[in-house]
Amino acid sequence: MKILVTGGAGFIGSNFVRWVFERDGASLGSHRIVVLDALTYAGNLANLDGLEGNYDYRFVRGDIRDADLVSKLFKDEKIDAVINFAAESHVDRSILDPLAFVRTNIEGTQVLLNAAREAEVERYLQISTDEVYGSLGPTGRFTESSPLKPSSAYSASKTGADLLALAGYHTHGMHTMVSRCSNNYGPFQFPEKLIPLFITNAMADKPLPLYGDGKNVRSWLHVDDHSRAIMLILQKGRAGEVYNIGGAPESEKENVDVTHAILHQLGKPETLIKPVEDRLGHDRRYAVDYSKIKAELGWEPQVAFEDGLESTVRWYQQNESWWQQIKSGEYETFYEAYYGDRLRA
Ligand code: NAD
Ligand code: DAU
Repeated sequence: MKILVTGGAGFIGSNFVRWVFERDGASLGSHRIVVLDALTYAGNLANLDGLEGNYDYRFVRGDIRDADLVSKLFKDEKIDAVINFAAESHVDRSILDPLAFVRTNIEGTQVLLNAAREAEVERYLQISTDEVYGSLGPTGRFTESSPLKPSSAYSASKTGADLLALAGYHTHGMHTMVSRCSNNYGPFQFPEKLIPLFITNAMADKPLPLYGDGKNVRSWLHVDDHSRAIMLILQKGRAGEVYNIGGAPESEKENVDVTHAILHQLGKPETLIKPVEDRLGHDRRYAVDYSKIKAELGWEPQVAFEDGLESTVRWYQQNESWWQQIKSGEYETFYEAYYGDRLRA
């Protein structure tokens, strides 16, 4: 299959591409992957190091909103399938600059859909998030028919994109699908998200800014488990369907517990934890019912959170130059704008 992977230089996209070429026995030799990525602050070619010489791989720098470029790629590469990972992905940044999220997540998705329809691309998978369902109370899990109640500009823009992808099916009969996943973790995650931020701050003996009471719950999924789910949906998912993907019930953790686990593994003191003012509109709890993808496609998570966290912490210890390079320039500007006053309070 010739697959266009947008956002392939980001965290999940690059892990997916690596997984296809290096890890998934069934995929070996059977796919060509063209990565399209604008290399925003979150995109990093180093995430794809080592793949350049692969005959079945090509990287193209460009924006998913560039209709001419996207149409030309579909034509030149005879693309069969699209996986749209490209997005502005960080909730805190969507509080500071919501328009950037509308531009890429909504406009960009529609540009891709238009070009995919024109080129009669066989399958289109929109990579989405459990955040489109909003926040849960202490009990229950999101199913595919839970109401859409996004809380942030990030999740609202992702919801819009999901609905546009599904409109492609209802209006034009395209084979579009949407996958909604919970919080991912693993190697190559940009150190603005909870787990890599806290690992790298702790390694540098810097404070860990824990929002509110630290008791918000997230359902953690190792990125390799997500990659396996994505390939299954791409190949076997039904047109016009939504598939939830999430961590096992044992991987539903309060942020404070994740924080303690990171500090424990690194042998760092709990005095590094700095409770700070809460995120605006902070969703309290996410938990995902993944029984549909389990029943239809036989998927369930395989990596236990404790094992996945341990290997992830080790990866950041062994790849310090990767994250040290990121944590400068634009990163410092964002860090000061978002955390400066919180940390000084
Ligand atoms: P990321 O921020 O690490 O990567 C996003 C990538 O998209 C970057 O490489 C960036 O350069 C690229 N990009 C941004 N705007 C672009 C544009 N206009 N044109 C082309 N490329 C552009 O994000 P991630 O964490 O890897 O998330 C990937 C996808 O998965 C997103 O759609 C996100 O909403 C979704 N998702 C993420 C998680 C998570 O826990 N990280 C969970 C569920 C769903
Ligand atoms: O649920 C899926 C979503 O998970 C994805 O769609 C998003 O792209 C991804 O960023 C993630 O969103 P969250 O907001 O849940 O992830 P984040 O890592 O930013 O935060 C996880 C939890 O940790 C959340 O409750 C906020 C808290 N937190 C986060 C940061 C960055 C802190 O307490 N302090 C922090 O500095």
